[in-house]
Amino acid sequence: MIWPSPHHSDAHSRSRSFLYLSLTAVFLLFTYQLLLNRELLGSVADWASDSAFPSLGFDSSSNTPDASGIEIADTNENENDKLIAIHGSHSINDPSSPSSTPSKSINLGIPTSTPSTSIHVAPTQTSVPPREKELVFAAMLKSNMSWVTENLPEWHSNIYRVDASPEQAEWTVPANRGNEAMVFLTYIIDRYDSLPDVSIYLHSSRYQWHNDNPLYDSVISVRDLQPTFVRKAGYVNLRCTWAIGCPAELEPARYYRERPDDQDHITAVLFPDSFAQLFPDLEMPERVGVPCCSQFALSREKIHERPLEDYIWVRQWLLDSPLDASITGRIFEYSWHIMFGKPTEFCLDPRQCFCNTYGYCNMSDEDLQQQWQWRGQTLPEGWPDVPDAPTQANLAGEAETGTEQSTEHSPEQSPDQSSEHPANEGKPDEPKKSSRKRSLALADEMPDISDASRQALRDAAV
Ligand SMILES: *[C@@H]1O[C@H](CO)[C@@H](O)[C@H](O)[C@H]1NC(C)=O
Ligand SMILES: *[C@@H]1O[C@H](CO)[C@@H](O)[C@H](O)[C@H]1NC(C)=O
Repeated sequence: MIWPSPHHSDAHSRSRSFLYLSLTAVFLLFTYQLLLNRELLGSVADWASDSAFPSLGFDSSSNTPDASGIEIADTNENENDKLIAIHGSHSINDPSSPSSTPSKSINLGIPTSTPSTSIHVAPTQTSVPPREKELVFAAMLKSNMSWVTENLPEWHSNIYRVDASPEQAEWTVPANRGNEAMVFLTYIIDRYDSLPDVSIYLHSSRYQWHNDNPLYDSVISVRDLQPTFVRKAGYVNLRCTWAIGCPAELEPARYYRERPDDQDHITAVLFPDSFAQLFPDLEMPERVGVPCCSQFALSREKIHERPLEDYIWVRQWLLDSPLDASITGRIFEYSWHIMFGKPTEFCLDPRQCFCNTYGYCNMSDEDLQQQWQWRGQTLPEGWPDVPDAPTQANLAGEAETGTEQSTEHSPEQSPDQSSEHPANEGKPDEPKKSSRKRSLALADEMPDISDASRQALRDAAV
């Protein structure tokens, strides 16, 4: 093929045309590079971090599980292990604590080693259209996550396995520190430019006491969550029930002044200094309250109210913290709502909260009381296929109209369950009594909570 030049018979002028064309092409390419260089580099960096490389230049050993063997709160059985770790954790007055690293402003003192931060640019029109909704899970290698695809196929899920090396799992974290907080921050950092409209941050177990529906079922929480409300509110805690965390779980200002030696509530002791480091621009609050358990939903706009550098800085704080993972995890449990712009005391009226968050509106007092009950951190073996569990028939009625839920057994209930199911009202029988006794004992054993929260657990014991 020959260039369609009028002088194609003239070899000399043909090579001159070729030279001009080449020069033009080089010039155009160069201009294109100048214009797009930053985006190209940025997306390459993001891609690299998405494909399971740590976003920051951590040494590779940090990808191995924490040497202390601390595990993320994967199942609900390891709270007692955590307690041991709690009492063995560093003191905030430890001179080797990293209080020297965080600067006075959250925008300063950011680690500068990461290319993706320094050349970060706004998402381009060439990027894939963001999804409507995604799930983010803090899991471990051993976590059986098939319940997610089985029950929530319409959600795109991001399963981070905190103890996995990049070769072992699709997503992992720079180091297994800070329990689920490390995962949630890593997802936000990895996906800052391609966030969905709504992202939901969850623990790995389907059934866990943190979920405030009668089955403690994450599938119900995710399915019934109102995405339009999340987009409006920005930050939405998945839990509306006040036990644990509301009306005020921590008293940072008083603990800061008086420095009580409160070994039963170690997070309260360690929170004030961490708060000062994480939120240097905020006044030390008298009280911090929010429903517990670190499961929440965020809108993209809310996440984007902070620059990417903030999240990287905060994750670095978590990586550098000498505190035990369970403590830093809990510090974040009581910090997410503050990070996302809510008041330090953020305890919504539960009735209003259930209506807005899940569409369970007009709940009676009885509905509210039965929406979440305390059975301990470990649900009965085989849950929810146990006689004690509420029936699906009851739940279906409740999700639609709270007031229709009856305390009597519904006629749809299967006979075998009716016979064994302890009546909610009326004659208390032996299994019911012993289960309540167990729940009360477990409320008393619950580590690292305020006295008010312990009493709330006792009140909700069933
Ligand atoms: C994982 O959970 C599913 C139920 O969601 C179950 O059918 C399956 O047997 C489990 N797999 C393992 C390896 O336990
Ligand atoms: C709310 O419940 C009351 C009874 O408790 C009922 O009269 C009323 O119609 C209900 N409202 C809605 C909107 O369902």
